[in-house]
Amino acid sequence: APVKVSKICCIGAGYVGGPTCAVIALKCPHITVTIVDLNKARVDAWNSPDFALPIYEPGLEDVVRQARGRNLFFSTDVDKAIEEADLIFVSVNTPTKKSGVGAGFAADLNYVELATRRIATVATSSKIVVEKSTVPCRTAESMRTILEANSKPNCRFDILSNPEFLAEGTAISDLFSPDRVLIGSLQTEEGINACESLKQVYSNWVPEERILTVGLWSSELSKLAANAMLAQRISSINALSAICEATGANIDEVSHAIGYDSRIGPKFLKASVGFGGSCFQKDILNLVYLSESLHLPEVAAYWRQVVEMNEYQKRRFSKRVVDTLFNTITGKRIAVLGFAFKADTGDTRESAAITLIKDFQSEKALVNVYDPQVSADQIWLDLQEASPLSTLESIQKQVHICKSALEACKNAEAVVIATEWKEFKDIDWEAVYAGMNKPAFVFDGRLIVDAEKLRKIGFTVTTIGRPS
Ligand code: NAD
Ligand code: UGA
Repeated sequence: APVKVSKICCIGAGYVGGPTCAVIALKCPHITVTIVDLNKARVDAWNSPDFALPIYEPGLEDVVRQARGRNLFFSTDVDKAIEEADLIFVSVNTPTKKSGVGAGFAADLNYVELATRRIATVATSSKIVVEKSTVPCRTAESMRTILEANSKPNCRFDILSNPEFLAEGTAISDLFSPDRVLIGSLQTEEGINACESLKQVYSNWVPEERILTVGLWSSELSKLAANAMLAQRISSINALSAICEATGANIDEVSHAIGYDSRIGPKFLKASVGFGGSCFQKDILNLVYLSESLHLPEVAAYWRQVVEMNEYQKRRFSKRVVDTLFNTITGKRIAVLGFAFKADTGDTRESAAITLIKDFQSEKALVNVYDPQVSADQIWLDLQEASPLSTLESIQKQVHICKSALEACKNAEAVVIATEWKEFKDIDWEAVYAGMNKPAFVFDGRLIVDAEKLRKIGFTVTTIGRPS
């Protein structure tokens, strides 16, 4: 019969493990949830008395305030949490490999493997091990082999795949009412029982018909497939934005018109300066690698193009800035508004802003950056990583971090909107204009400003997906 889960351990207190398991704790007061991480600073931040949490996510603080200390705990004592739990989420990072076989494409499974081995070593009672991280197909199979090879008598491991579909910035509402929860298991009696145990956890707040149960490999592939299809929509609309700029069509009108088709649907059709975030590119490259390993080169090429189109979109946008500013931005000050990869998050992983700023740096421009959530330390870290041959000192000669949009725009020749923060829509554009050098340019990489209004003030406005 299915085990009734009363203690959960989550390995990895990041963007996924933290919010996901905090919500489980909130919705299941009868279950004790312990989220562990090797990174002490991160755990300390989760435990901070004034709730200065390590990640910014609307609604998260409220969830943690309600559950922390009640049935939600954060700790660095990984072994103790593993030993006590009957169900363990593995929610560690799976970045793209930087070296070795599959470098630049394949997922680095070292963290998943280390966590799995730790479970195998420490556990003295049976556990349900849940793969929450996004992983290539068949990873659950490897995890199972490691666990079984190391298991002790009377100690069995069942493995489930339960990929996470939350988006940053809306994580809490996505977790409160998910489109679906996906659970993959072996189709054996034990596998189906383990699946039922996890299903009972989610049933505390997710309607039965939204909990889908499938085979392990289908579950793993569905996660990669969902991200690939979402990213493909953005690359498709961005490809069309280039046609709009060349012809006079308006990409917002095109999105609106095609989104009305109920088979296409209106969501996720916003043209942009390019998608960012820790997962889209990584997961597609993972799919490309998988396709190549399976000797399916045409399939690999198809998905690779989604990432290539995204690179093209970013390059195209920075080139348009240079072209519009009379073919040179040397010594010119450019205000970049937004550094996070999307609004309502402080996450900067793969943010398009990083690429743009790097392009402006190589054109010898001066760059002012402002983001309402990203810390200065994080910006310096990202810019240094993007230009490993430059010293921080030399980067700081070109780039300044500002405390407000208005400050960033002061004495600038151009404003570039890289992230769709709501506050950029509501800026006092008259004041911005007054403080800028003339002619004053605005480049809207997120289709958020009212171009006509800005033109009336005096700005020259360039928008993605509209002719200049
Ligand atoms: P993250 O880097 O924010 O968090 C991972 C955490 O795991 C880190 O804090 C790290 O210190 C910890 N960790 C690594 N190895 C460990 C070990 N052996 N023991 C204990 N702790 C360990 O990553 P994330 O953004 O939370 O992503 C985690 C996974 O979820 C990835 O596979 C990602 O693809 C997937 N995912 C992410 C999102 C998202 O929006 N960020 C959404 C869905 C799925
Ligand atoms: C994405 C997926 O939406 C989640 O379902 C998934 O769980 C997650 O990846 C993951 O696996 O990590 P996330 O990257 O957090 O979530 O955020 P999105 O809202 O998907 O945005 C990704 C990027 O696409 C952002 O840079 C965003 O600005 C851009 N985007 C999004 C567009 O340019 N246009 C759109 O219409 C939508």
